[in-house]
Amino acid sequence: MKFFVDTADIDAIRDLADTGLLDGVTTNPSLIKKAGKDFIPLIKEICEVVSGPVSAEVAATDYATMSEEGKKLAGIAENVTVKVPLTPAGLKVCKELSDNGTMVNVTLCFSANQAILAAKAGAAFISPFVGRLDDIGYEGMALIEDIVAIYDNYPLWSTEVLVASIRHPQHILESARIGADVITCPPDVIKKLYGHPLTDNGLAAFVEDWKATGQSIL
Ligand code: G3P
Repeated sequence: MKFFVDTADIDAIRDLADTGLLDGVTTNPSLIKKAGKDFIPLIKEICEVVSGPVSAEVAATDYATMSEEGKKLAGIAENVTVKVPLTPAGLKVCKELSDNGTMVNVTLCFSANQAILAAKAGAAFISPFVGRLDDIGYEGMALIEDIVAIYDNYPLWSTEVLVASIRHPQHILESARIGADVITCPPDVIKKLYGHPLTDNGLAAFVEDWKATGQSIL
């Protein structure tokens, strides 16, 4: 399972890249607004820190402008993944860019039928939003199960299921159980995966007992 971080905060990205466990980055216009930096140079900087896929989202909604934006974003660095919305125009851009060898992440997916369209359009990634579905009373993880099962029926489709809008570690655990390819989540959710009170208590006891032995390894 690949771990992407869903942020445009370059310090947080550096911090996570340092763990050696980070496989990629996803951004969106809201995260760019939050970062408060110029989009293109920021994406370039992120691509220098992380060698895996870095999603940069188009801003337009019409085909022609989206296509131009996509080509410009793809030119920033080799690891840029152009993110497009799941609309007819977005999928047209997805097909065009994918046919030309650019990785595309299709975002704002809320149904299995949408995921089928994205796979047919050659997307490198489909991003179903589990948290936003949970927020309105649907079962986000049920959608992931459905998409993974459907994609498994068609081995020639190469689209990876990228679980997005993750709110808590349980979403990550369920994604792993289902066999989703990628998860993307805020930095604090990744950090929560490390935590367990028995780890903290156990380590404190080991440190104390080791001190009492009066020995040193180095
Ligand atoms: O980047 C797409 C997705 O992860 C957004 O998540 O928390 O805004 O629903 P959220």
